[in-house]
Amino acid sequence: MAERCTVADIARCAGKEVELLGWLHNSRPSGKLCFIAIRDGTGFIQGVAVRGQLPDEAFELCRTMNQESSLVAVGVVRAESRAPGGFELDLRDVRVVAASEDGYPITLKEHGVEFLMDRRHLWLRSPRQHALLRVRAEVIAACREFLDGSGFTLVDAPILTPAACEGTTTLFETQYFDEKAYLSQSGQLYNEAAAAAFGKAYCFGPTFRAEKSKTRRHLIEFWMVEPEMAFCDLDECMGVAEEMVAYIVRRVVERRPAELATLGRDAGRLLAVKPPFPRISYDEALDIARGRGEKLEWGEDLGATAEAAVSEAFALPVFVHRYPATCKAFYMEPDPARPEVALCADLLAPEGYGEIVGGGQRIAGRELLERRIGEHGLPAAAYGWYVDLRRWGTTPHSGFGLGIERTVAWIAGIEHVREAIPFPRLLNRIYP
Ligand code: 4AD
Ligand code: MG
Repeated sequence: MAERCTVADIARCAGKEVELLGWLHNSRPSGKLCFIAIRDGTGFIQGVAVRGQLPDEAFELCRTMNQESSLVAVGVVRAESRAPGGFELDLRDVRVVAASEDGYPITLKEHGVEFLMDRRHLWLRSPRQHALLRVRAEVIAACREFLDGSGFTLVDAPILTPAACEGTTTLFETQYFDEKAYLSQSGQLYNEAAAAAFGKAYCFGPTFRAEKSKTRRHLIEFWMVEPEMAFCDLDECMGVAEEMVAYIVRRVVERRPAELATLGRDAGRLLAVKPPFPRISYDEALDIARGRGEKLEWGEDLGATAEAAVSEAFALPVFVHRYPATCKAFYMEPDPARPEVALCADLLAPEGYGEIVGGGQRIAGRELLERRIGEHGLPAAAYGWYVDLRRWGTTPHSGFGLGIERTVAWIAGIEHVREAIPFPRLLNRIYP
């Protein structure tokens, strides 16, 4: 009996006869030969069928089977320096598990993005999408590994919430029995309770923004990892963020070189991503953006083009800190030296990818927090518990949120965040 093996593990089986379970990706018959590309979920490998070296029915199957038929392939693993994975399979037998119907929609020819997005459930099988989602999984594993190894406790935040975190204009409202509830925009407020209980805590989950933005950086549903630290100021917070981002990038480069190659991503630029990252103030960022032709008034948030202009001035990710308080959320601690700016920071990724991290120091005092809740027109009752955190043992505390899809888009070097999540929710899309 041939040993069962996966493509990922194929090197271990060199020279042996193995059984591989997978799907037909592509078939190229050529006279007495037939080359079939098999994918098994762990990778792709070429099987070589030579008439006479496997049963005639099996050879015919190789020639005629529809794309995406599920199959069992038996063959001898042969090292092949020209093969992308370094090995090929000399086929001895092929059996079909379930023949694919005619007309698998995603062929090797070019398709438009909307066509592919409508078939996202099948598109995930294609090499590029496969590579991207592997990079995503690696990014997520790296976030968890970094935080778990740095004294943070995972404390999950709820998805259904009674109040806004990031402003009321992007809230998804839903009915919660007799009350109104909202889908979480960020776990931060709950995370602050967790940080007061655990010192260092993080949450990680899906977040929602009912944002009518149709850009290459906006999703309606996206995943965010959010560390929060008690007894931590803005500078220390930026320190943790840069260590974490560098850790993520290094781990993807080390563990996913084949995927980065499939994506055509030059790992050289990523290898250079080491702390310390430059830190500039909003005022300095404004000067840089204006110097590159952006028309901006002091007090305005940096839009996508201004962010791109700023990040182009640096090879590394760059922190922009101390934005005007008026363009940021209600919970931001003002700078005591200059109360019109907030002790916050955004991290802008290089190559024009824009903001991947947003965070900063939170208001520690109860009176100012209550005033801000009022100024922002937020319903005080829904924030009672959040204000409580300032009543009993408040500390200077800080945290940040790292958007998984934007981070993946940057590391993978892709154009649009919609391919950085398995099933994107976009302004015009909730299917499949
Ligand atoms: O800057 P944001 O809105 O910050 C917060 O939500 C804070 N409460 C986080 C915290 O301090 N704990 O979002 C943080 C990050 C952004 O930098 C970006 O990477 C990502 O989340 N993000 C989005 N990603 C995709 N689509 C969207 N619509 C996003 N909005 C934010
Ligand atoms: Mg932000």
